[in-house]
Amino acid sequence: MSQEPIKFAYWVPNVSGGLVVSKIKQRTDWSLEYNEKLAQTAETAGFEYALTQIRFTAGYGAEYQHESVSFSQALLQATTKLKVLAAILPGPWHPAVIAKQLATVDHISKGRVAINVVSGWFKGEFTAIGEPWLEHDERYRRSEEFIQVLKGIWTQDNFTFRGDFYRFNNYTLSPKPLQKPHPEIFQGGSSRAARDMASRVSDWYFTNGNTVEGIKAQVDDIRTKAAANNHQVKIGVNAFIIARDTQEEAQAVLNEIIAQADPEAVHAFGDAVKQAGNASPEGEGNWAKSTFEDLVQYNDGFKTNLIGTPRQIAERIVALKAIGVDLVLSGFLHFQEEVEYFGQKVLPLVRELEAAQASQPAKETEAALV
Ligand SMILES: Cc1cc2nc3c(=O)[nH]c(=O)nc-3n(C[C@H](O)[C@H](O)[C@H](O)COP(=O)(O)O)c2cc1C
Repeated sequence: MSQEPIKFAYWVPNVSGGLVVSKIKQRTDWSLEYNEKLAQTAETAGFEYALTQIRFTAGYGAEYQHESVSFSQALLQATTKLKVLAAILPGPWHPAVIAKQLATVDHISKGRVAINVVSGWFKGEFTAIGEPWLEHDERYRRSEEFIQVLKGIWTQDNFTFRGDFYRFNNYTLSPKPLQKPHPEIFQGGSSRAARDMASRVSDWYFTNGNTVEGIKAQVDDIRTKAAANNHQVKIGVNAFIIARDTQEEAQAVLNEIIAQADPEAVHAFGDAVKQAGNASPEGEGNWAKSTFEDLVQYNDGFKTNLIGTPRQIAERIVALKAIGVDLVLSGFLHFQEEVEYFGQKVLPLVRELEAAQASQPAKETEAALV
């Protein structure tokens, strides 16, 4: 278990409709003004990272979605401490283009940009923009080369590379990014190919929400493989957080989100992602086993069960840390108000429990999750 305090990231709502495929009334907004204020609130509350989302079409029945790299730059300009993750898709982005863009953003933001390499699951999006669609494991083979190349460009002069997807000839990027050895590289996915890639090249592995057993199985698998590859990778888990003064209130909010789910949009999303999740040879990708209720939060965030009182949530977060999780990636219904509440009520409890945990046997903390 890491001795470092567990870290917190939040999903940037750069898409309209918030983080749930539900018609429930919400106050979250996709505009720049809303997001600037949210980013400032989040860094004050103790969040270290903000994750933008990339979709060329607007996602999950949503009407609007801002582009991720330019939106990240805007959020970095509005903040002073927060690290912002620009999400990109290999294919539409050539690694030379994003390496150059982010080197500049890193200088402008004084070393606060990071990248989320999204391998892609939505064939319709690629077809819509005329981008060739690779099969599941080929997408990860390309992403792995993409990450190798990014690291090469960001750390070496006269970079030369001969891959199946990318070629470089004596290329020198100047200036290199400010952060050394390079900005942090995150990736998402649950399939075998995603985990294998994480255990070889990524700094961070992000997974969808899951049960404790599901998360632990992934953590153990990746850490074992990474150790064999002499590579270190940190792990972030998605969770849709509903923190309220009482458990009943929190549960009622969850029930309401699900009761007002938009069945057509959930089914359309479910069909697309299940096809993507099952597309990996072993059929274990993200969403392969998700139910209708799970899919109402589009990265399975209810499954992590950070729904309840501040104390219940803090205990479950510390228990996640005990099984090897380094970061909680959080979504909220009313982002602005709930990020603030989380910073005031939940985070201080997490820090208290972490301090106490050092002297506790691991078994007790794991039991808090069940
Ligand atoms: C935390 C997280 C963030 C993601 N962000 C995006 C995104 O912005 N856009 C996108 O198209 N896919 C996104 N994905 C999808 C993944 O990159 C990947 O394509 C998907 O999880 C399927 O992978 P799998 O089949 O390996 O499980 C994200 C996944 C996770 C876990």
